[in-house]
Amino acid sequence: MDLLFYCRGGYEADLLAELEQALGQKGLFGYAKMSKNSAFLRYCLPQHNAQPYSLESLKAINEQVPTLEKLVFARQKLHVLADIEFDSEDRISTLLKMFDAHALPMFSDVFVEYPDSEEGKQLAKFCKKFTVPLRNKLRQQGHLHKKPSNNQPFLHLFFQQSGKCIVAISIVNDRSLHHLGIQRLKMPSAAPSRSTLKLEEAIHLFFNERQASALFSQGMRAADLGACPGGWTYQLIQRKIVVEAVDHGEIAENLMATGLVEYYSQDGFLYKPQHSNVDWLVCDMIEQPTRVSELMLQWLETGKANACIFNLKLPMNKRHKVVAPILSRLEKALNDRFSEIVIKAKHLYHNRDEISVLIIVNTQMISSYKENKR
Ligand SMILES: C[S@@+](CC[C@H](N)C(=O)[O-])C[C@H]1O[C@@H](n2cnc3c(N)ncnc32)[C@H](O)[C@@H]1O
Repeated sequence: MDLLFYCRGGYEADLLAELEQALGQKGLFGYAKMSKNSAFLRYCLPQHNAQPYSLESLKAINEQVPTLEKLVFARQKLHVLADIEFDSEDRISTLLKMFDAHALPMFSDVFVEYPDSEEGKQLAKFCKKFTVPLRNKLRQQGHLHKKPSNNQPFLHLFFQQSGKCIVAISIVNDRSLHHLGIQRLKMPSAAPSRSTLKLEEAIHLFFNERQASALFSQGMRAADLGACPGGWTYQLIQRKIVVEAVDHGEIAENLMATGLVEYYSQDGFLYKPQHSNVDWLVCDMIEQPTRVSELMLQWLETGKANACIFNLKLPMNKRHKVVAPILSRLEKALNDRFSEIVIKAKHLYHNRDEISVLIIVNTQMISSYKENKR
């Protein structure tokens, strides 16, 4: 039984390290088929080699492996159904034969994908062109539902060359709904920096729409440490939140003109909130990751912030080795201090060598997060 994960090129070893750590804790061991900069990782679990797969058996296996949400360095998580080599240009007929050979479930939609790598990008045009006729044919033959829905499995065809692909399935509630596992975002014209996309993606990833509107709303206050020129502040004021923007640099004038930004030219490590506490603390300072995580911990533990989103800058390699103890320390310290917490971390598409972390410790905010989950 093989699992297929997508990640940023160059992060395969980090994903493997975190996957093996999580699987090892459950007594599961396998081996990886991967190459550096390939932007994906295939992982074989020999204990689970039962074929043909039923959707039920796949779901049972899926429950034993870490969820996509738990894997910091994974963008997508799939189960491999078959490897297909095409011996003619008529790829659709070959795929239809596979449907006859394996008792596959009916899918909600089909994603024709490729690695997010330099080589993979060469296949983007081909994959795009192949998608519509394939989707139409699969629908015609009763392999796809008439309307895509997020409550059904998706079929994924993962091409590394136009002549062969991995056929895989994604499981409901444990997958990215985005093509290639990448949330594409349009750069807002009024935002002063591309960094704005990091916080926007984090909000989309960590929350559904209902959670986001409940947790970021008018009347809230935030502190943005290392705010300049204001990309993250922009995201918060778009949500009508008053922002204490802290940086020695300058904040873009159009943001100051909204009247929602209070600017403080101070050191983010020494700054204290203006009114004893804020709903949201956000931080994008380029600093040692442990220094930033300890600062976040201090704000949360002392009640200066109810929740936070921050980025941790990563070293050039062995990122999992650096990140894992930081996240464990945060989780342990906050679980000792609070009855319940929400903590999530992800290497986002718009992050370069950094990850984004969400933590909520406030009881009301956690209730709101849970109530609006579905
Ligand atoms: C990556 S930029 C932040 C970009 C910002 N999030 C945006 O979206 O526009 C990092 C910022 O952190 C600020 N910074 C670094 N160390 C700081 C410190 N100790 N106190 C305050 N700001 C700091 C830098 O001046 C810089 O403006």
